[in-house]
Amino acid sequence: MSLNTFPRRVTIFEVGPRDGLQNEAKTIEAYVKVSLVNRLSNTGLSKIEAGSFVSPKWVPQMKSSNAVFSLIDRNDGISYTALTPNLKGLDAAIESGVDEVAIFGAASESFSQKNINCSINESLERFRPLVDKALSLEIPVRGYVSCVVGCPYEGFIEPQQVAHVAKELFEMGCYEISLGDTIGVGTPSKIQAMIVEVSDVMPIEKIALHCHDTYGQALANIYAALALGVSVFDSSVAGLGGCPYAKGASGNVATEDLLYMLDGMGIETGVDLEAMISVGDYISKQLGRENQSKVAKAYLANS
Ligand code: HMG
Ligand code: MG
Repeated sequence: MSLNTFPRRVTIFEVGPRDGLQNEAKTIEAYVKVSLVNRLSNTGLSKIEAGSFVSPKWVPQMKSSNAVFSLIDRNDGISYTALTPNLKGLDAAIESGVDEVAIFGAASESFSQKNINCSINESLERFRPLVDKALSLEIPVRGYVSCVVGCPYEGFIEPQQVAHVAKELFEMGCYEISLGDTIGVGTPSKIQAMIVEVSDVMPIEKIALHCHDTYGQALANIYAALALGVSVFDSSVAGLGGCPYAKGASGNVATEDLLYMLDGMGIETGVDLEAMISVGDYISKQLGRENQSKVAKAYLANS
């Protein structure tokens, strides 16, 4: 296959401050989250998921999202986004001045129940008024579909089921659908088969891929998606993260590793790798965690 089939430009959707931190057991002070977002804002990113307006009983770590949104230094070229599971979350997000919100459904019934306490159909009905309200206020809505290859409770998920939920969210008004390999079980051929199925029901330009790196397949899966023309990828600085409702799920693909691969392929992102490595080093030290980015580890060991 010729390199020319790959997109020339890719958008990196940084989810570290949300997906990366939501699973941390110890409360992270708001000022650390604010500092993380501010540092990320200086790397050239255009999208930063800075928090979520979910029930604090379900995900206590995100309780400070309101404080985070009110304290960050906003950069005009950046969309600061948040997850909103229902109208209550949307209202809180609007109050906090988010630029964009995201609803999150799943292709697995069991995961939907564990994560948002309702069936897939109930979730779609819950999302509809949220999307209507957000769009009436000109707030763009992104849609997530979790468990696009496998579910921690149900095992393999059929691509048709993923396409069904993606189509519903897209037709509801989501401007983009992020397909989440929540537990990182995907391999390139499974990811491609799933994306081909989804691209039958919506344009490939509106598809994003959200890879967790649990089985070390994330970059290979992203490469496979690039070959199909996908040009938006979610990632997390220093590979932070995990999902509270998916035991054993590790962080997202590290933003630094994704950037290194894209830079090496000559694909533009507008994001500076060295600046990103420095942010990853900062947050890893703050959390007392080993940096999960291989690129950052190699770079820092040699500098
Ligand atoms: P529920 O218990 O069914 O909701 O939870 P409820 O409406 O019955 O409300 C229960 C209580 O929560 C009430 O408080 C509500 O006020 C409160 P009480 O009267 O008991 O004091 N509440 C809220 N508080 C603040 N903000 C809100 C909110 N909503 C209700 N928005 C609910 C249903 C959806 C709220 C809950 O299940 C929830 O918050 N789930 C979120 C779970 C979550 O954040 N998971 C992680 C994100 S998803 C993910 O990581 C996957 C992704 O990365 C992609 C991938 O990797 O695949 C996106
Ligand atoms: Mg995730």
